[in-house]
Amino acid sequence: MTHTTKFAGAIVYQGPSQLDGRPIVAIVTAGSDNEKTGDMDQLYILPDTGQTPAQAWKSGDYASVCGNCTHRVNDTCYVVRVQGSRAIYAKYQRGGYPTLDPATLPKTRAIRLGAAGSPDAEVALAKLLVAHGQNTLVREGALTGMRGKETAMAKLVAAQATAANADGAGFVVEALAMLVSQSGKAGPMEEMLNLAVSLDNKAMQLAVVRGLDRGGRDAKAKPTKGAAVSKVAKLLWLPAEPPAMAKLTAALTDKAGAAALAGVNERVMWVGKPGAPKPPVVVPLTAAQQASFEHGRAIFNGLCAACHQPHGYGLDGLAPPLVDSEWVTGKPDVVARIVMNGLGGPVKVGGRTWDLSMPPMAQLNDEDLAAVVTYVRREWEHTASPVDAKFVKGLRDQYATHASWTSDELRPPAAAKK
Ligand code: HEC
Repeated sequence: MTHTTKFAGAIVYQGPSQLDGRPIVAIVTAGSDNEKTGDMDQLYILPDTGQTPAQAWKSGDYASVCGNCTHRVNDTCYVVRVQGSRAIYAKYQRGGYPTLDPATLPKTRAIRLGAAGSPDAEVALAKLLVAHGQNTLVREGALTGMRGKETAMAKLVAAQATAANADGAGFVVEALAMLVSQSGKAGPMEEMLNLAVSLDNKAMQLAVVRGLDRGGRDAKAKPTKGAAVSKVAKLLWLPAEPPAMAKLTAALTDKAGAAALAGVNERVMWVGKPGAPKPPVVVPLTAAQQASFEHGRAIFNGLCAACHQPHGYGLDGLAPPLVDSEWVTGKPDVVARIVMNGLGGPVKVGGRTWDLSMPPMAQLNDEDLAAVVTYVRREWEHTASPVDAKFVKGLRDQYATHASWTSDELRPPAAAKK
């Protein structure tokens, strides 16, 4: 399919705010020259009360969009909404934006929706997904922005499923469950199982379990001849038997449901499960290390998350993922040196090459640096060793004046696993 008209932005939601019921509008615009994020289509959510964004900001109308976010209340928002939004709102008022028609989206661009974090945007996105979930571009675009919110979004989408749109909704719910399963984290997996139990719509329930099953199949493993399914990916260890499993077994008795559930059951393990292998041994943190971990969480959220994102999976054009990164979970000096001195040039993370640059985090003292390193080595179900301030001091004595590292210096290519 070719496109004769250039995508020039569109309205994706127009209606009451879920926060206070007052009118808002969400508009996706085409193109941006933001150096940090690269050329992206942006989503603007604006009060739709007829005032300019600047007037709306002053009069408090942005509460319909931002709620009681302290940055709105204290006027400390770092997103300069008012400048960029003015032109968008003026064009909208002139009737300059059509309502989104996925067919007009350029096929060459990837879209990334769902990062806004506002309840209105998420409801709008769930509606868009139910209506257009079978359009690959819309679905993929929404899913890439969905990290850490998959279960919440699956719940919103399932709630909108009707007999008429069951296919579209089921498709999306299955894709969301698959993402969770692929990420290989036990906590989110259990959340999804609990969601499946809570749904009274059988088709949506099956969609969740099917997605969890499919996401656990190792895509790279060739299906063995004669075997019904391909190899199961990494086992997921839950702290105890999830009550959801027994409930789902009772609920999903048809052939498709039972088969998908059997796949999930092969993957999910807990201590004491009949036939389960030995669980991996994780050395628990001491009380002092746990306190350092908590301090590290605060540093991560205030500093690293701006680039690596609160969910740790990174953001295209800005920073690579830390979740399941060998740089994070490998030898402890590697991540400590990256944070201390910075990193530049090509670096391979999770099979993808990034070529950006990270500045040194010079504001962190030895204790802070040890804390944030401990945090990233144990968060996201990582099980790597913690580090302490003494360890960091040793590195600082050696490398304090070192320039930004390259990945080859930190880990010679021969030693790299991926
Ligand atoms: C200003 C944005 C920014 C901030 C803030 C930032 N990083 Fe990074 N980080 C990057 C970029 C960009 C790269 C990739 C550099 C390259 O391409 O060579 C990176 C790479 C890394 C890597 C190696 C690659 C990987 O994904 O595992 C680690 C580990 C890392 N950062 C940890 C941290 C930690 C911990 C913090 C907070 C203390 C932090 N970063 C703060 C931008 C940032």
